[in-house]
Amino acid sequence: MTQADFVVVANRLPVDRDDEGGWRHSPGGLVTALEPVMRKRDGAWVGWPGKADLELDPLEVDGIFIVPVALSAAEVENYYEGFSNDTIWPLYHDVIAAPRYKRIWWDTYVAVNRRFAKAAADVAAPGATVWVQDYQLQLVPALLRELRPDLTIGYFHHIPFPAYGIFAQLPWRRQVLEGLLGADVIGFQRVADAGNFARAVRRQFHYETRASGIRVPTPDGGTRLALAKAFPISIDADSYVELAQREDVRARAAEIRASLGNPRKILLGVDRLDYTKGIRHRLKAFGELLGDGSLSVEDVTLVQVASPSRERVEAYMQLRDEIELTVGRINGDHDTMGHTAIRYLHQAYPREEMVALYLAADVMLVTALRDGMNLVAKEYVATRTDNRGVLVLSEFAGAADELGSALLINPHDIDGVKDAIRRAIDMPAAEQGRRMRALRRRVIEHDVEDWSRSFLTALDATRPDAR
Ligand code: G6P
Repeated sequence: MTQADFVVVANRLPVDRDDEGGWRHSPGGLVTALEPVMRKRDGAWVGWPGKADLELDPLEVDGIFIVPVALSAAEVENYYEGFSNDTIWPLYHDVIAAPRYKRIWWDTYVAVNRRFAKAAADVAAPGATVWVQDYQLQLVPALLRELRPDLTIGYFHHIPFPAYGIFAQLPWRRQVLEGLLGADVIGFQRVADAGNFARAVRRQFHYETRASGIRVPTPDGGTRLALAKAFPISIDADSYVELAQREDVRARAAEIRASLGNPRKILLGVDRLDYTKGIRHRLKAFGELLGDGSLSVEDVTLVQVASPSRERVEAYMQLRDEIELTVGRINGDHDTMGHTAIRYLHQAYPREEMVALYLAADVMLVTALRDGMNLVAKEYVATRTDNRGVLVLSEFAGAADELGSALLINPHDIDGVKDAIRRAIDMPAAEQGRRMRALRRRVIEHDVEDWSRSFLTALDATRPDAR
């Protein structure tokens, strides 16, 4: 049995099984973020292969030791679609959709978290570092500590952590907090998320919290210090810059513009089709701008990529119907034979194509109602090597804490969104340059390597030998 000194535990593996039984890289911000780190350190990755009832032996793919955790169809329904994506996801995104609390979902979440913890305990070498990822696995840190007190355990929360008044709805709030407190370092996207977590811990357990430290009681009657702190995630910026400079990618960007009829300005939205992303608000603002004559389809096209996501969860099915109805209406009202208002694509694309789209777009619209970070905003910025282009960014996305030189908007304020779109379309080149340079500096200096380095340095500092 392979023993690894560095273990990542995430709901998803960094690879997907294709229909022919081979492996291919899976999409998603998390995978993109962690892959470079995994390659550098010989690590193991514990995760679910993405399909029900797939029992696979551990294997090596592209230098990463892969430990697949099997889930039955019922577990996918109750743990992944149910508790993770129909309870925790809407609750932690400020109840934009109504969370559903079902005891069978919770029971399955506990059972599956146990399985992940066991798999990690089995592959971790003595004294290893284990890094647990995201809201699907909030119980793993404490379960793992119980199994393997010798390990150093980190947890990173990729999505928001809500204010106590919202978090308190969760019938299993104490168990979830206890699970997270099993980690030595609990990382969040924003300072506000870390603050919300510390407040929840104080309200529920009355533990002492000072600066980022939380005093957690240990079984021997003593205490240990857990660190709850912000580590804003980023992207592999260099690889986006490289792609943006590739001749074929630039040619593809020109081809995209031409195939849309070379409009004066292209607006772009790129999201998983998720109700947290504010796609409806964006469409509403754009539709009104066309309706009141501020914009014309001869001049401006909105390209909206909405990649399929969690398609068996009711709230996502409903959202898809609403979005597609709205797109159909706006296009029906405003399209001409030669020009379309919205080019809507319910598809996922490889990175090259995404970068070509970023290069083709004059204005990037990120209108999330709530978002842990939003890596699309950072990807767009990284690819704009000529310092042109405008990022319109929701202040409710974690990225807004770092990207203050974007045009910041409140997506609920439709008039404000319309103003920002107009301003972005008309922005003089000099102002675009000033803003874009500041944005790019931030994203390139604080890339994903910097993120993982700061998290792992903080985690290393908690090791008994370091203290
Ligand atoms: C968000 C979450 C990730 C998740 C991704 C894709 O970014 O923070 O944990 O993997 O969405 O969602 P999915 O349900 O397809 O894994």
